[in-house]
Amino acid sequence: MEETISIAILAAGLGTRMRSKKAKVLHQAGGRTLVEHAVDTALALAPPERVVVVVGHQAEQVQEAVARHGVRFAVQNEQKGTGHAVGCCRESLQDNGGLVIVTYGDCPLLRDETLAALVVAYHDEGAACTVITTELDEPTGYGRILRNASGDVIGIVEQKAATPEQLQVREINSGIYCFNAALLWRHLGDIKPNAASGELYLTDMVEILVGKGHRVAAFPIDDASELLGINTRLELAVADRLLRERTVREHMLAGVTIEKPETVTIDPGAVIGQDTVVEAFAQIRGKTVIGEECRIGTASILTNATIENGAVVEAFSMVADSRVGTGAKVGPFGRLRMQAHVHTKAVVGNFVELKKTELGAGSKAQHLAYLGDAVIGEDVNIGAGTITCNYDGVKKHATHIRPRSFVGSNSTLVAPVEIGEGSYIAAGSVITNSVPEDTLAVGRARQVDKQGWPSKRRSEQQS
Ligand code: UD1
Ligand code: MG
Repeated sequence: MEETISIAILAAGLGTRMRSKKAKVLHQAGGRTLVEHAVDTALALAPPERVVVVVGHQAEQVQEAVARHGVRFAVQNEQKGTGHAVGCCRESLQDNGGLVIVTYGDCPLLRDETLAALVVAYHDEGAACTVITTELDEPTGYGRILRNASGDVIGIVEQKAATPEQLQVREINSGIYCFNAALLWRHLGDIKPNAASGELYLTDMVEILVGKGHRVAAFPIDDASELLGINTRLELAVADRLLRERTVREHMLAGVTIEKPETVTIDPGAVIGQDTVVEAFAQIRGKTVIGEECRIGTASILTNATIENGAVVEAFSMVADSRVGTGAKVGPFGRLRMQAHVHTKAVVGNFVELKKTELGAGSKAQHLAYLGDAVIGEDVNIGAGTITCNYDGVKKHATHIRPRSFVGSNSTLVAPVEIGEGSYIAAGSVITNSVPEDTLAVGRARQVDKQGWPSKRRSEQQS
């Protein structure tokens, strides 16, 4: 019979070893906070109403980080140890019966499959408690699994309390357990404060259950990296790398070419279509969606960007909260921000910035331009050095450039202003009035040639 699964996620600690003002579980690895990773994994196994996150340090911020998932919270005002933290969930979980899984908010690499396998192992063993363990070459810092001569688990000893002999044990406690709920709640109160720290250690439950004649089983796993508990920023960096490797690998297996994958950053929410090529050091962040057969150039940073099929973002470009249409091209050194939209087959070249601007289909702004608060129609040519002067010091104003017009190099368009369809702006113009359609506007002083002026000046200087 399927038993009800409840999950307690311990996340109340400050994480002193992080040396941070921010609670440990609010630090990010692989593009998400540690507590989000823990909640995601828990939700693969139990509905949100049976998942309780124990919060303490910066409780409000931790709750905020995962509130949208609908999980429950228990507050642990004083961090009196992992056993005490589980005790804080009693009220929320006790009536559920079945089994209680305990996980940590600082263990972001644990896979959904592994937690599911723990439950299977728990049922297979029929033990009162099954704990995930692994063997480490360098077990320092972790609690060690103690077994008797016949190999049964009889206790867990923390690093600090371990005898030299126990320190030789390489099988470590992951801190992730599956308990028979009734036995957990019946005996949790039997944990005595640790002699050295005064804390209530959940690890003591093993000895307590064994003492009451129950069996405790270990569920050893091979991939020790899944159990990495984050205590310092060094471990945080390792977790970040491993989580990012996982994401990049998934994209490659799904048909994305990624050059030098170890240098590429892809956030978990990103979507990338088949046969897209991502070059070295690219960063694909937030809810970015990239279509098929695109190319994302070296060191480009896309944040909440939409890149449609066949579009190219050349090296060193930034696209934030903006859209690049089918077959369009941006960069190298292009910048799109605040809902910029480069339509189908349009081109944004080097050192061109678009802010809240539409560049119509087939239009081109190839070099050195600032286009802000502008609506630019199809097949427009924006010359090098064009600037839309959208800000008068108080308010922002719009520029409209109608289809098939041509803006000469180094033009300054003082908004609000409109360039009519098919019109020409002479290079170097300062345009302060709207230009009707099919018109050449010249907004600069006429050139004056003074023949003989230089030689006259030179002879004056010599005399
Ligand atoms: C714990 C285990 C250790 C195990 C290791 C695996 C105990 C006594 N030790 O040690 O055997 O090898 O995890 O990573 O359990 N927390 C609370 N309230 C508290 C104390 C802790 O919510 O009062 C939370 C922390 O926020 C953290 C988790 O529990 O997410 C683990 O606490 P931590 O201090 O990191 O325990 P370790 O020393 O790593
Ligand atoms: Mg820890």
